[in-house]
Amino acid sequence: MLIKLLLGKAEEMVGEKGDMPLDQDFSFRSFAQHTFYGKVNLDLLEQAGIGPGQRVVELACGTGAVTRLILERLRGAKESLVIAIDHSALAIKQAMEELKNVRASAVQFIQSKAEELPKVVQGRVDAVIFCNGIHYIPDKETLVERVSQTLKPGGTFAFNTSFFQGAQPPETQQFYRRWMLKALRILKEKHGLSLPHGQKVEARRYLTPEQYVALVEGHSLQLKGKEVKEVPVPLEAWLDISSYQDFIEGILPGLPLSIARQVLQEGVTRTFEELGIQSVPRNWLAIVAVKA
Ligand SMILES: C[S@@+](CC[C@H](N)C(=O)[O-])C[C@H]1O[C@@H](n2cnc3c(N)ncnc32)[C@H](O)[C@@H]1O
Repeated sequence: MLIKLLLGKAEEMVGEKGDMPLDQDFSFRSFAQHTFYGKVNLDLLEQAGIGPGQRVVELACGTGAVTRLILERLRGAKESLVIAIDHSALAIKQAMEELKNVRASAVQFIQSKAEELPKVVQGRVDAVIFCNGIHYIPDKETLVERVSQTLKPGGTFAFNTSFFQGAQPPETQQFYRRWMLKALRILKEKHGLSLPHGQKVEARRYLTPEQYVALVEGHSLQLKGKEVKEVPVPLEAWLDISSYQDFIEGILPGLPLSIARQVLQEGVTRTFEELGIQSVPRNWLAIVAVKA
């Protein structure tokens, strides 16, 4: 199903207030508001040369934090447009709420899978931006082929992710191990639960930076930049990511979300206390490529 929504209709979509009670909000919204996170994404937009007058597709726009950064760089130029795509109706609804004061002609929301490009976007665009979502895509070859088809010659594909092989610096392994052990112990002691039968803490196989480079180069895209940057992630951000549904389901599948959130948050707080740390470093990969 494709729902195409213009920003002018945002208020109809979000209802009177749009907000949901915090204890039922498992969206990405609170994590996306962290300053370090905005900086990581802004760096990518700078490297991608996003600027006034461009038509930009944003894949997996989530709750609109990066959409706002793109709009700021387009600076209201008349011909500029952001086409923001996400497969989650709730994320789109929250993004529309976040951007309800933006000029209606500056942004268009489309509820669709990223892989449906270029079916859902007419004409070619100057840039495709994909922040913190490419690791979710099972068939990345098809995705990148479609991104390439959507770009004008000379157009830019830029993406970043902190879920790739090498994202966790080796010295942080003990942090993750302790956190998971504590979370499982709290689950048992406080809630009398274990991970449901057949559900294992997931060990996803992520691509290496070199595999991402080969991926873009295999689809008429020329590598312009590849960067791995270490970012200190504070406790508040780990608490917020522990409240994000996709994250919870990735590491503690099959549990009620509110219970999983509680054990993850308590587990990470105790781990920070025990290790006496203020932040945990995490690597972000950024790749920028240009359509030949
Ligand atoms: C971690 S959030 C990132 C949101 C935003 N790009 C940011 O950096 O703030 C990932 C987003 O990817 C979306 N997503 C996951 N798989 C998708 C797919 N196949 N097509 C479109 N969106 C997808 C989710 O709904 C979610 O909003």
